[in-house]
Amino acid sequence: MKKLWGGRFTKTAAQWVDDFGASIHFDQQLVEEDIEGSIAHVTMLGECGILPKEDVETIKKGLMELLEKARNGELSFSVAYEDIHLNIEKMLIDEIGSVGGKLHTGRSRNDQVATDMHLYLRKRVIEIIELIRQLQHVLVEKAEQHIETLIPGYTHLQRAQPISFAHHLMAYVWMFERDRERFKESLKRINKSPLGAGALAGTTFPIDRHLTAKLLGFDSIYENSLDAVSDRDFIIEFLSHSSLLMMHLSRFCEELILWSSQEFQFIEIDDTFATGSSIMPQKKNPDMAELIRGKTGRVYGHLMALLTVMKGLPLAYNKDMQEDKEGMFDTVQTVIGSLKIFTGMIETMTVRTDVMEKATRQDFSNATELADYLAKKGVPFREAHEIVGKLVLTCIERGLFLADLPLDVYQQASPLFEEDIYEALDPYTAVNRRMSAGGTGFKEVKQAIEKAKQIIEA
Ligand code: ARG
Repeated sequence: MKKLWGGRFTKTAAQWVDDFGASIHFDQQLVEEDIEGSIAHVTMLGECGILPKEDVETIKKGLMELLEKARNGELSFSVAYEDIHLNIEKMLIDEIGSVGGKLHTGRSRNDQVATDMHLYLRKRVIEIIELIRQLQHVLVEKAEQHIETLIPGYTHLQRAQPISFAHHLMAYVWMFERDRERFKESLKRINKSPLGAGALAGTTFPIDRHLTAKLLGFDSIYENSLDAVSDRDFIIEFLSHSSLLMMHLSRFCEELILWSSQEFQFIEIDDTFATGSSIMPQKKNPDMAELIRGKTGRVYGHLMALLTVMKGLPLAYNKDMQEDKEGMFDTVQTVIGSLKIFTGMIETMTVRTDVMEKATRQDFSNATELADYLAKKGVPFREAHEIVGKLVLTCIERGLFLADLPLDVYQQASPLFEEDIYEALDPYTAVNRRMSAGGTGFKEVKQAIEKAKQIIEA
């Protein structure tokens, strides 16, 4: 089959060589962006007097028809035309005749593909930002229901100090807020037009890059034509922000998996987000949470892959850069899918407040309260720590918790202990007293929820 660039060739490549070089299998996902970019380009060619108005109208009409067909899934692509750009150009020429061949005036596939990717990513990033917001909304709603629900707080996965369950949920709300900010902030770099950079050096035609940028809704244009066609930092940045988001989701998934185990029983994942075992009838597995945790790996992989593809490339365009697409498409799909599933899982999970609460009473996570108690009475904290450590040891030896030890044992350890220690040992009191900014005290948590609501609903 004759190639659109076949003029200087005397032989054609074998089918399997063409297959290796083609990107149409995956870049057909850019079909709408590709046609939209072409419509803007040809409109500008008309406005600048580079093409006659009649030709522009014919080409535009042809492109509109192709766009309509693309939206209805009626286009069929061919490996013979390598990628989405040449496929569309060929279809246009087939549809409207040789005038279609004027579309590529003053343009290259190099600025074309970069433009498509910017348009594609802008749309998806806006979608991702909104999905993160919806997840935050669901988390804040859950948090509001559980301000006074107590749960053990952990360090080293050992019980450390009791906290409000809402406080734990809100920790993720703020992580997701930073993720959302990062994506939002990246839009100003994504929303830049490379169109009109040509193959690498610009063009001799009197084009208007600002006009195509405006028609496509870009805020600004790339200042340098070499840079415009040869960097993929905007995609790497997207993969990097996606990696961080997936890392946050994955950690949360790990907690849901732990919490829903027989050992914790803090939550129950809804039947609609769990699966059974083909052999063990009793099983209810947190598959969706595990999958999100697992899929984090492929997103990290795509980030490493593209960083590596780019690191040795001389300016400007190199075919290596065709490798930027599959990882980006897969990341978009993975991130959007994970956010939707995760939000549904949180929305529908059952919180076992009784089990959580009981856990905070059957451990030594109130030991810090005792040390603080002595420190407030003037005992150097390091000595207070030692005294309470010994009391914990006494409890372990006797099979008791701190709240079960009689007052005389306390007073033997330090005459400063009085009846009010039992009040201090209560996990509810312990949580409520942590009033430092950003701490787990109920008042603080309420304020944090209000603040988050304002940011999220803004
Ligand atoms: N399919 C190519 C890509 O994805 C489009 C740009 C091709 N440009 C070229 N000079 N071969 O990168």
